[in-house]
Amino acid sequence: MRENSKISYEDKNIFYKIMLVRLEGLLSSETDWLANLSNAAALLYTNLPDINWSGFYLMKKEELVLGPFQGKTACTRIKQGKGVCGTAAVEMKTQLVPDVHLFPGHIACDCASNSEVVVPIIKDGIVYGVLDIDSPTNNRFDELDAKYLQLFVDKLNKYIDWSQI
Ligand code: SME
Repeated sequence: MRENSKISYEDKNIFYKIMLVRLEGLLSSETDWLANLSNAAALLYTNLPDINWSGFYLMKKEELVLGPFQGKTACTRIKQGKGVCGTAAVEMKTQLVPDVHLFPGHIACDCASNSEVVVPIIKDGIVYGVLDIDSPTNNRFDELDAKYLQLFVDKLNKYIDWSQI
């Protein structure tokens, strides 16, 4: 059976390096994008401590539409430029939000969320969606999280043909 024990968070660098190895293992053994994004959301949700939502919004007809995720039910559509996700998509830049209540236009899906990180999924200059992670703790995510979550998205980019979605 595939290794799925919880990864220790004691050393954040090692934690993320193991996460990336696990992700590679999942993606390299399956070609279906839905199966792969579902497992990627679960990998984050079951290993990152202190989070309450992890998942994807995928760009469809100029709008972000809810994709595979773990956590409470969420809003299904986000227009470009709206909320943290829509801002990441338009600015094509990771959004590290220490307090979502101070982010203009933040879209509250789970009222337990207090901080958030959103990494845009960009391949060959095209935004295909975003990776979104929420936490009930203020200031939960830092530059190191952003760095490794970008590598996480890079790995997804290596295996997933977004144009087929
Ligand atoms: N908070 C996000 C909406 C998605 S939920 O967090 C799952 C936003 O402002 O874009």
